[in-house]
Amino acid sequence: MKNIDSKTLRKMWMDFYREKGHAIISSASLIPENDPTVLFTTAGMHPLVPYLLGADHPSGTRLADVQKCVRTGDIDEVGDASHCTFFEMLGNWSLGDYFKSEQIKWSYEFLTSEKYLGIDPEHLAVTVFAGDDDCPRDEESASLWKSSGLSEDRIFYLPKKNNWWGPAGTTGPCGPDTEMFYVKDVPDCHEGCGPDCDCGKYLEIWNDVFMQYNKRADGKYEPLGRCNVDTGMGLERTLCIIQGKTSVYDTDVFVPIMEKIRSLMTTSDIKAERIVADHVRTSVFIIGDERGVTCSNVDQGYILRRLLRRAIRFGRQIGLEKGALGEIALVVIDEYKDIYPELLANKDKIIEEINAEEERFIKTLSAGMKEFEKLVFYQKGDTISGKAAFRLYETYGFPVEMTQELSVEHGLKVDLIGFEAAYNEHKQKSHAGAEQKFKGGLADHTEAITKLHTATHLMHAALKKVLNDENANQKGSNITEERLRFDFTFPRALTPEEIADVEKLVNEAIEADVPITCEEMTVEEAKAQGAVGLFTSKYGERVKVYTMGKYSKEICGGPHASRTGELGKFRILKEQSSGAGVRRIKAILE
Ligand code: ALA
Repeated sequence: MKNIDSKTLRKMWMDFYREKGHAIISSASLIPENDPTVLFTTAGMHPLVPYLLGADHPSGTRLADVQKCVRTGDIDEVGDASHCTFFEMLGNWSLGDYFKSEQIKWSYEFLTSEKYLGIDPEHLAVTVFAGDDDCPRDEESASLWKSSGLSEDRIFYLPKKNNWWGPAGTTGPCGPDTEMFYVKDVPDCHEGCGPDCDCGKYLEIWNDVFMQYNKRADGKYEPLGRCNVDTGMGLERTLCIIQGKTSVYDTDVFVPIMEKIRSLMTTSDIKAERIVADHVRTSVFIIGDERGVTCSNVDQGYILRRLLRRAIRFGRQIGLEKGALGEIALVVIDEYKDIYPELLANKDKIIEEINAEEERFIKTLSAGMKEFEKLVFYQKGDTISGKAAFRLYETYGFPVEMTQELSVEHGLKVDLIGFEAAYNEHKQKSHAGAEQKFKGGLADHTEAITKLHTATHLMHAALKKVLNDENANQKGSNITEERLRFDFTFPRALTPEEIADVEKLVNEAIEADVPITCEEMTVEEAKAQGAVGLFTSKYGERVKVYTMGKYSKEICGGPHASRTGELGKFRILKEQSSGAGVRRIKAILE
């Protein structure tokens, strides 16, 4: 096995798939567009959902990329050897192009060839779908592994729970997957120890998903007309394996960050050091994203706040002083600036936001900790009341998850239902859903959602016009069947007249009933035509541009209505603040 650093691995991945006829696409923003099911991009396939469902991708049917991802579902595990809240996913896709035989052959080649990872096949194991009443055993994948060179005893058959991916909701594309594992040179922990055992002998490297079924509403699986491949390899975990390290924090992506933390701390605690490293790294990517987020009490802003406050608390345990997180963030920016230039472009903003959140939290942290200790001292029974947890939140800024963690350290629980009740009593928006788990992101493109998406484009253009501000840019969009929600950069509240003007402009565009057209072009051409967009794509990359008459021109993956006249009547329900310098509009089509 070769010792490969992160830069080499990313390049190797892209070179490998380029050679196999793939277009290399840019990482999308960490903040998903138009997907109400998730707060962050959690897998490489997430931004590609419309294409996996059948839309044509402007770059073709073979794609590969390195996608930045955030998953906070396992935040409590961070500090162990492998969990991170931010990670990069190496991925490749076939959109109705090649299928199992090419993908398995290539996976074996990439893993074992000396030109690539050079892993000894003796150290490889794979799992394939064992079959059940719905779908047959995936003998095809197993035999492809065998003909690639893997010995039979290295192939494990596992049920749906392990070897099936999707659908995201109740219906949609899904299929068996085959997962690849590095097998460590340690004895089996028990008879029957295998890839489904979490003793640490088997380390998952890569997942190839074969989307070949459609799950219907009646629960039956029918073969899909078009078969896709969706794969994902975690960069950090793969580095850990090929660099022969015992934890991801010892790989080259983390070493400079860990060294900086160690130079600033006064006492050592490996778990706290790793938590600080992970949370600061994730915060840097969230704030520095193309659709950058700032701390708030809802949605992505709340997750960011939790991460930073958690980093501050654990930082205190190892003696980090005020300003330390900002210094660590500078190392993160420096480390990743060549691959993610948005971090350098947003450097001042990142540091200011981290310092400001630190400033806000350390004012109340010590007093809050005293309050918490008092609470524990006088505590009768094993559950901290919802009211007390709410007081810690309201007065001292303790995210309830932090109170929970502190309570566990004292063998106590928190009455979360009571907390929610106290929270709602104070008429604040519930953030119970803030920790939404990844459901796969195969968002529905129902007619209602598609129309609201089209209305979002018209409103975005109308806002720029009415506010006479080209920088009134989209920060986030969330669409459900019922309404659109749109966050954009603007420094003040809109006046009632401005709101009425935006509504009027959008309704004019709808009444004009213009056709909506989609063209593919390079990102430079789109820019030259004045299309609105994030411009995250790299030089020369092809994108889709949706034009709605003279009303709107925007880079977007779609889908959209075919004419503006299909939309109905547009009405803004609410306009409010959504963090510093960001406004939020909720609107409907009637
Ligand atoms: N979408 C697949 C995963 O996240 C590749 O594992």
